[in-house]
Amino acid sequence: MIDSYNRRINYLRISVTDLCNLRCRYCMPNKGIDKMSHSDVLTLEEIETIAKVFVELGVDKIRITGGEPLVRRGILGLIENIGNLEGVKDFAITTNAIMLKKYAKQLKDAGVNRVNISLDTLDEKKYEYITRGGQLKDTLDGIKEAQEVGLTPIKLNTVLIRGFNDDEIDDLVNLTNDGIDVRFIELMPIGEARNWAIHNFISNEYVLEKVENLEEIKRDDINSPANYYKLSGAKGKVGLINPISCKFCSNCNRVRLTSDGKLKLCLHSEEEIDLKTPIRNGEDIKTLIIDAISKKPKEHHLENGEYITRNMIAIGG
Ligand code: GTP
Ligand code: 5AD
Ligand code: SF4
Repeated sequence: MIDSYNRRINYLRISVTDLCNLRCRYCMPNKGIDKMSHSDVLTLEEIETIAKVFVELGVDKIRITGGEPLVRRGILGLIENIGNLEGVKDFAITTNAIMLKKYAKQLKDAGVNRVNISLDTLDEKKYEYITRGGQLKDTLDGIKEAQEVGLTPIKLNTVLIRGFNDDEIDDLVNLTNDGIDVRFIELMPIGEARNWAIHNFISNEYVLEKVENLEEIKRDDINSPANYYKLSGAKGKVGLINPISCKFCSNCNRVRLTSDGKLKLCLHSEEEIDLKTPIRNGEDIKTLIIDAISKKPKEHHLENGEYITRNMIAIGG
């Protein structure tokens, strides 16, 4: 599928739940979020049907996200079915890794190629603070297990937060010596946590100032939101994802499906196209999707203060 700005849309991010076993401060409000009514959530069969249509339309990269995708009941069956769709070349999940010690092998067996893992700090106390109660050890155990079963390359997603983890940049970068990719993400003002995000924002330029011996390397995927660098001799890469200081919209290749069946054409746009009702009515969603793709916005306008209200937890990154 090609959109109106000549971008090839081949990447679908599927959020299977807006529930999570953590409560990261930039992702969800302190009071939590209202529970969706059961009937508003796509069933696993509906998700699979929608995924199949996207694959028929040329999507060859699928990522399962959440909330935390591994808390959804029956997730392994869905993953196995999507992994079996002919045409899916890159099949990944984004997880906080809390449950990965238990699930890594089963995910690998079900056809997942690789995992991206959210980890913002290597300090137990700070981890507990930013996730509002999580245990660092669980995530570290999960990462180890993912390495052992070969869910690789593993990419860590670290949201850079002023006064919180800007003193840990060197330690995090050093993880690339173990063959893990570490990507620093600029904090995005999304949902109810947007004021918190604006207050705690720090540009990724800071990483380059802090770590002098990072060499820029050629990107192997032009659609990736990350620019990549390397420490000399390290096996893993350092990525910088700069949605705020340096837009990457012109190379955008992705759309998102939320767990309540909305198609999001742009992470930062309020516009959502409902796929749940048509799918429940047995309508053909193919033309609906093709038509939607032709309306994908050119770019976001965060610089003008256009922030969306949906919380990140209900989008999946
Ligand atoms: P790879 O396929 O491994 O490159 O994964 P990915 O970067 O597409 O997925 P991941 O779930 O690891 O997302 C990393 C970060 O990039 C998250 O914080 C996302 O919100 C952010 N990101 C991904 N896509 C977009 C996008 O279209 N726009 C913006 N502004 N940010 C994005
Ligand atoms: N800004 C930047 N990144 C975010 N993530 C979640 N919320 C935000 C935000 N407001 C990241 C998580 C996860 C990825 C999918 O999105 O760290 O790794
Ligand atoms: Fe859960 Fe990820 Fe959101 Fe943290 S960032 S609360 S781990 S979905």
